[in-house]
Amino acid sequence: MQKIKLYWKLFVIPIFLLVAFGIAYVSYFRHTETPHMHDFDPGISDKRKVAIYENMIDALRDENYGSSVDYQKRAETNHIQCGRVLSGDTEYINTLVGENRIPLIENRRLNMSCPAIQDRIHSETRDFKLLDSGIAFARVVYTDYEFIEKQLEMSWHPQNVFCFTVDKKSPDEFISRMQKLDECMENVVVLPVLENYDSSGHNMNIGHKRCMEALLPKTDWSYILLLQNPILLGGVNDVHFGKEIDGRRVPGLKWDPRSMNLFINESGINEKVLNEPMRVYSGAVQVSLTRAAVKWLIEDVDVSIAIKQFNQTKYAGDEQLIPSLYLNYEYGMPGHFTDHCPDYDGPKQITRFVQWARGNINNCPTKTVRHGVCLIGIEQFRALSRMPFITVNKMVPSFDYSIIECTSELLYNRTFLGQMDHELDESFYKELLHVKYHKHHEDPEYKLDCSSNQKPWKYEYYL
Ligand SMILES: *[C@@H]1O[C@H](CO)[C@@H](O)[C@H](O)[C@H]1NC(C)=O
Ligand SMILES: *[C@@H]1O[C@H](CO)[C@@H](O)[C@H](O)[C@H]1NC(C)=O
Ligand SMILES: *[C@@H]1O[C@H](CO)[C@@H](O)[C@H](O)[C@H]1NC(C)=O
Ligand SMILES: *[C@@H]1O[C@H](CO)[C@@H](O)[C@H](O)[C@H]1NC(C)=O
Repeated sequence: MQKIKLYWKLFVIPIFLLVAFGIAYVSYFRHTETPHMHDFDPGISDKRKVAIYENMIDALRDENYGSSVDYQKRAETNHIQCGRVLSGDTEYINTLVGENRIPLIENRRLNMSCPAIQDRIHSETRDFKLLDSGIAFARVVYTDYEFIEKQLEMSWHPQNVFCFTVDKKSPDEFISRMQKLDECMENVVVLPVLENYDSSGHNMNIGHKRCMEALLPKTDWSYILLLQNPILLGGVNDVHFGKEIDGRRVPGLKWDPRSMNLFINESGINEKVLNEPMRVYSGAVQVSLTRAAVKWLIEDVDVSIAIKQFNQTKYAGDEQLIPSLYLNYEYGMPGHFTDHCPDYDGPKQITRFVQWARGNINNCPTKTVRHGVCLIGIEQFRALSRMPFITVNKMVPSFDYSIIECTSELLYNRTFLGQMDHELDESFYKELLHVKYHKHHEDPEYKLDCSSNQKPWKYEYYL
């Protein structure tokens, strides 16, 4: 009996931990603000500011503030009862939206000493359980140090590793704070600042590749990028894909593996594969890759020319590389999928949750959109807590910090207090088409069935 119980814990706790961890992880700056925009909204009305500061003063006057062993919220969000939001108390939730949303208030006295940073990211009171293997994260960043540190706290585990590459245009203060993370945190690498990144995706693939190179020698991780669930995905990559978006590629370039010098060792590779142009697909930059796929990307193929060619595209040239390698199955990327199901409209990726406004602000629960993407607000907390995705695009600290804080508290509760508010639906992951394909594609009897799969995923199912 004891033994069974223990096994159950080993299996389930890491899953909850991993799936839970990523929820607030907002990645890269596709469709985010332009780099000069501030982390903190300068346009907040005085009335709203007064209400926010009054809450902060109340928090600081509270004799017990900061002394609890439970999750520690910031002063501006300390009064928020995340448990009530989680239970779906609409009356209460209505007091936290609209004019009353709580943005992040910059900590002008942020203590940047190593002991203080370490204490914020992994305080000694946190008891980390051993995982079967860790997760690696690679991120391109340019602003929002406090938010990045919060996300690091949410996904930190002694077995996880993190790589950041910082935009050259970032303010010096941001760059030096990021470098402080490298200096103070053993499992965080902040690469030398070499490239300009922009919201059109230029140089993004290069930044990620440099991070993959930096992280590959580090042992003990099984999936890279966004935290991933290695047990349930069973070795397949998790990449969003769709038909190539018209006009993305500049004309006149050669896309066959031979011209791109894609394969480092061409012997043993079919001539047809070498000479036919790569079939190009558009997807998302946010992906989860297995360690084997990363090793292949670094050691077996040379993507420099492909990256350079895609980088000539004006907008979103970074969204084609990984999806195309993933679907050109004959290239043999470990954990690949296939483009034999071009019209498949079931769930394609669990790495990222994103709600597109599609030209109508009413498609966004918060009625707030930035660059076509809905901003996530506190009223969506309950739905998010039940969704199968591991990251969310996008939460913006200057728009609504309560959702970030409550997500962080929820992960804390699930990870360290054993809170079981939601049962993980394992079958959802096991039934994903790419997961099933990966499991069976080498079996000669296996016939890929593009139709008999899950229904398109809908946000409404989780309300
Ligand atoms: C987290 O746990 C604390 C202590 O049990 C509880 O008060 C709070 O409501 C929980 N928060 C969430 C989001 O579940
Ligand atoms: C910063 O934090 C460290 C460690 O907690 C502490 O020793 C130091 O006094 C703090 N510095 C300031 C200026 O508060
Ligand atoms: C190249 O691949 C061939 C066939 O797979 C293999 O026999 C050979 O050893 C490889 N060469 C190098 C330099 O790895
Ligand atoms: C990628 O494109 C940008 C914008 O055109 C350019 O500044 C940059 O040098 C390019 N990078 C490479 C490696 O070609």
